[in-house]
Amino acid sequence: MIKHNIRLQPLDKKIQVNDQTPLIDVLHEFGIEFPCGGKGTCGKCKIRLLDGEININEIHQQKINKLDLLPDWRLACYSLCTSDIIIEIEQFNHLILADESEFDFTPGHGYGVAVDLGTTTLVVQLVELSTAKVLAVETMLNPQVKFGADLISRIQACLDGNATEMTRIIRSAIGLMIERMLKKNQVEIQKVTIVGNTVMQLIFSNYDVSPLATYPFHTNDLGLKTFDPIALGWNFKVIDKIVFYPSIGSFVGSDIVAGIAATGLYLNEKYTALIDLGTNGEIVLGNKYDIVCASTAAGPAFEGSNISIGMRAVTGAISSLNLIEGEIVANVIGNVKPKGICGSALVDAIAIFRKLDLIGMFGGINSEEKSIRLVGDVSLTQKDIIEFQLAKAAIAAGLQILANTLSIQLADIDKIYIAGGFGNYINLQNVVETGMIELPADKIHKMGNTALIGAKMFLFSNDEIVDQILFKTNHVSLESNPDFQDIFVDKMLFL
Ligand code: FES
Repeated sequence: MIKHNIRLQPLDKKIQVNDQTPLIDVLHEFGIEFPCGGKGTCGKCKIRLLDGEININEIHQQKINKLDLLPDWRLACYSLCTSDIIIEIEQFNHLILADESEFDFTPGHGYGVAVDLGTTTLVVQLVELSTAKVLAVETMLNPQVKFGADLISRIQACLDGNATEMTRIIRSAIGLMIERMLKKNQVEIQKVTIVGNTVMQLIFSNYDVSPLATYPFHTNDLGLKTFDPIALGWNFKVIDKIVFYPSIGSFVGSDIVAGIAATGLYLNEKYTALIDLGTNGEIVLGNKYDIVCASTAAGPAFEGSNISIGMRAVTGAISSLNLIEGEIVANVIGNVKPKGICGSALVDAIAIFRKLDLIGMFGGINSEEKSIRLVGDVSLTQKDIIEFQLAKAAIAAGLQILANTLSIQLADIDKIYIAGGFGNYINLQNVVETGMIELPADKIHKMGNTALIGAKMFLFSNDEIVDQILFKTNHVSLESNPDFQDIFVDKMLFL
């Protein structure tokens, strides 16, 4: 029997199916809904073909035309798997964190566009500069995911000769998102502000990423970049400028500069921390005098990638767990049979396992079993627990080393902001109980997409905020800190 591989993005799950398998038969396992029952009328099951082939028969084409889908989109309910494919699941994209929070600004004139260029997701907002009101939002999966889910695989793809194509597709995707907003809002754009991590910055700007692949992982190309819309292949005018903001170090990009702006930590007398739990995990600690930051590899476990039953917050995912009268009670999205667990519930599960003494101080399962059942058929394996320990230790050790660098105690930190999609849904008490953040829960605050908030703030400033932040901020390499290994191993424990 001929087999094909399917990769589902942005979760980066891989499955193997027999030739001619209908996608509807396999996708519902991942929480994908088929609201019209697969009649091809609602368009809710639409998927974007990132790589490979999905043949379209006459009826499928008629449905696509009727729903006015763009050329690379298909209806999962009408698709058969006949080759290896990589597909983007539209229903996953509703989980991309846009932002509507308020911030201080000096009114300007005209309209601006703020762009959060993430490794996994893209968010673009059209903003009225006299009021800071968001007029339109576009979100989509970063089309580069077909070259790999994380930064290492993106760098590798560039080294393998795909750099020009990766630059082309990201510029084109952002240009199309802005065009879509302008179709509905016929305005002229004054300024476009873009923030993203260092790899995204280099690829968008068409610079060589290879220095980030080898020691000493340094490049001089991470400064502020301005662009002309024509050079980017964009079909609209920008009156003032298009700016990609500068990075702090080789692995801490302008998304974190934007986060520092959004939290205002660079203005505070007291010490404040920002922990961004995206595909990468970045940590910042500082005040108005001195700021230090570091990057960690904490993200994938919380996004479900390295967890055997990990999934995005879609139908069938356990989104939170509570211990009620000694019983584990799950909230399942869509009130259906649970199929897996998302990052927020993973934190709950570990906190509950500790409370019930199902796992020990070192994370080992306190029985002969190889896994611990949560609810229904959903269990966490010993490997899943270790993945969680590695992620939580990366954060806790990172914060400890930054505090050591500033010669302060963790107790001196006044506030911690948690940014990123996953950060928005976690139970802060359980974050503290698992030892991920070793401070009282009332010091921890959720802040959503700080990169996007900062990008919007940059629309109203003449880059003076960015200059101030860069002047005060230093990057700390955790791996080259002589205490890192010892601290990391300590932070793996559940105390
Ligand atoms: S389920 Fe409605 S179009 Fe596919």
